[in-house]
Amino acid sequence: MILIIYAHPYPQHSHANKSMLEQVAHLDDVEVRSLYQLYPDFTIDIAAEQQALSRADLIIWQHPMQWYSTPPLFKLWLDKVLSHGWAYGGEARALHGKSLMWAVTTGGSAHHFELGTHPGFDVLAQPLQATALYCGMTWLEPFVMHSTFICDDEALQPHARRYKQLLLDWQEAHRG
Ligand SMILES: Cc1cc2nc3c(=O)[nH]c(=O)nc-3n(C[C@H](O)[C@H](O)[C@H](O)COP(=O)(O)O)c2cc1C
Repeated sequence: MILIIYAHPYPQHSHANKSMLEQVAHLDDVEVRSLYQLYPDFTIDIAAEQQALSRADLIIWQHPMQWYSTPPLFKLWLDKVLSHGWAYGGEARALHGKSLMWAVTTGGSAHHFELGTHPGFDVLAQPLQATALYCGMTWLEPFVMHSTFICDDEALQPHARRYKQLLLDWQEAHRG
């Protein structure tokens, strides 16, 4: 099962993430949890989130980049849900062996993230990568959709289809 933890503060105004979800939400064995719609008051149902994670083989953290980081509800989700004694610490192994993919959209272009003036993309991924590894997950190559500031809906489509193909390929490789 693929579980997409989706954190968009204004999902109704999304273009990039919405186009991605339209491609994948109805695939077999894909579950989407839209955090801002589930928890508009930021009160996260930790047990429900942990149960969903337990069912998943591939976990995707999908969100728009905000100030080189994640939207705030997603950070709270990490703090609350990946709890001591469940995700890490002692004998905790709830997430061990699962795969983790970061799927992020950015207003800036790929060039904006090249090492130099700004931190490279690998640098920005490090807190999430470290979190995944600390919980015993396998960190996959991130899916990145750049340049959303300048892309219209038509230009976003090939990228959204690439996302779908990535998930289909993963399912094919892990069938049975
Ligand atoms: C508060 C805020 C902070 C943002 N910070 C960044 C950023 O640091 N880097 C970047 O490339 N884009 C940034 N953006 C642009 C968003 O990443 C972009 O609008 C989003 O990926 C588009 O996806 P959507 O159509 O699903 O909303 C920011 C947007 C907002 C609202």
